[in-house]
Amino acid sequence: MAVLEHLTSQQAIDLENKFGAHNYHPLPVVLSRGEGVYVWDVEGKKYYDFLSAYSAVNQGHCHPKIIGAMMDQAKTLTLTSRAFYNDMLGKYEQFATSTFGFDKLLPMNTGAEAVETALKICRRWAYQKKGIPENQAQVIVCENNFHGRTTTIISFSNDPVAREDYGPYTEGFIKIEYDNLVALENALQSNPNVAGFLVEPIQGEAGVYVPSEGYLKKAKALCEKYNVLFIADEVQTGIARTGRLLATCGNCSCENKNCSGTPEVKPDILILGKALSGGVYPVSAVLANDEIMEVITPGSHGSTFGGNPVAAAVAIAALEVVQEEKLAENADVLGNLFREELNKFIPTCDLVEKVRGRGLLNAIVINDTEDSSTAWDICMALKENGLLAKPTHGNIIRFAPPLVMTREQLMDCVGIIINTLREFER
Ligand SMILES: Cc1ncc(COP(=O)(O)O)c(C=O)c1O
Repeated sequence: MAVLEHLTSQQAIDLENKFGAHNYHPLPVVLSRGEGVYVWDVEGKKYYDFLSAYSAVNQGHCHPKIIGAMMDQAKTLTLTSRAFYNDMLGKYEQFATSTFGFDKLLPMNTGAEAVETALKICRRWAYQKKGIPENQAQVIVCENNFHGRTTTIISFSNDPVAREDYGPYTEGFIKIEYDNLVALENALQSNPNVAGFLVEPIQGEAGVYVPSEGYLKKAKALCEKYNVLFIADEVQTGIARTGRLLATCGNCSCENKNCSGTPEVKPDILILGKALSGGVYPVSAVLANDEIMEVITPGSHGSTFGGNPVAAAVAIAALEVVQEEKLAENADVLGNLFREELNKFIPTCDLVEKVRGRGLLNAIVINDTEDSSTAWDICMALKENGLLAKPTHGNIIRFAPPLVMTREQLMDCVGIIINTLREFER
């Protein structure tokens, strides 16, 4: 068999099952093309993508501007490593720091690497600036967090599937309940060696949990009171997904006048990934001001691919698309419409408990036990009906389409979702 021969869906699935490690449980659909809000399987069936590669493809599949930037740069210079300068990285760093309102950016590739980087910066700051005794720094994290898959990150996860048999685990983390300011203040008060508070502005993987109004702002104020760094992991919530450029929407250039809900918060350390490249290329970043970022010195951290010229060109184009196409505003308007339409439907059906979310990061909670297969079965039926979504944590289905969606397309999708849910009514 020639390696690039055309495959049927079943052949492609069989190949992955036989030759790939089984670290995922994908929906049985084999995609071979994407454009905007649509993807096509190898048999040519068209679907709405309602996952966007876990919020990486915010700008839509194969956005011509981002692909153009990547192709131009790929023909010119792809990788120098940081042993030498390249003529793209500085331009990208200048553009991204002014977009998000920070002095400096440290470029990495994946979200997990950026989280690791933020933790390293935080620990160094603790020893060099705050004066915490050697090896005593603690970082407060939240229960049900998801920050990636490295050994340190899974050390402070409470998901048994992510952790089992990967010990020994990294020390130095204090876990508290999400959206609980009393727990945060207790943890800060009872331990003088706290260096940082790492938090997702909305817990995406856990099932799109939106914290109470004012939580982030008050948590930030507590961090300031105890001289602790507020570290926002916006790998999933950032880059317009929640109807604003960032879910924390601090001192940034987001011009969305419709921002509502969580008040402005400026993190001390901001972590970005996924849609920073429009899902075109692995690009992640950590942003902070000089007094924090200056703890990073030559040789103390790095990555061969981090800050490569293709990544820089792709990220500039991806951020320009967000601004030019007003994706934050679109996510805000369409997100409100999505929840409004589903909230009209939910009282008429026993199957769905609620819809929650912000912007175009939403989830429905299925009225069934966590270990039931109902959410998976609904996703299978949605697939048959031309819409791809995936359950997260048992009975929750996340809905996160590309932000380039039009109102008509969204209403079409609402129709597909409601008709599919009706098929499951008991
Ligand atoms: C909030 C958050 N942080 C970090 C990550 C890890 O990103 P990556 O899969 O690129 O390592 C994810 C991935 O879903 C995420 O949602």
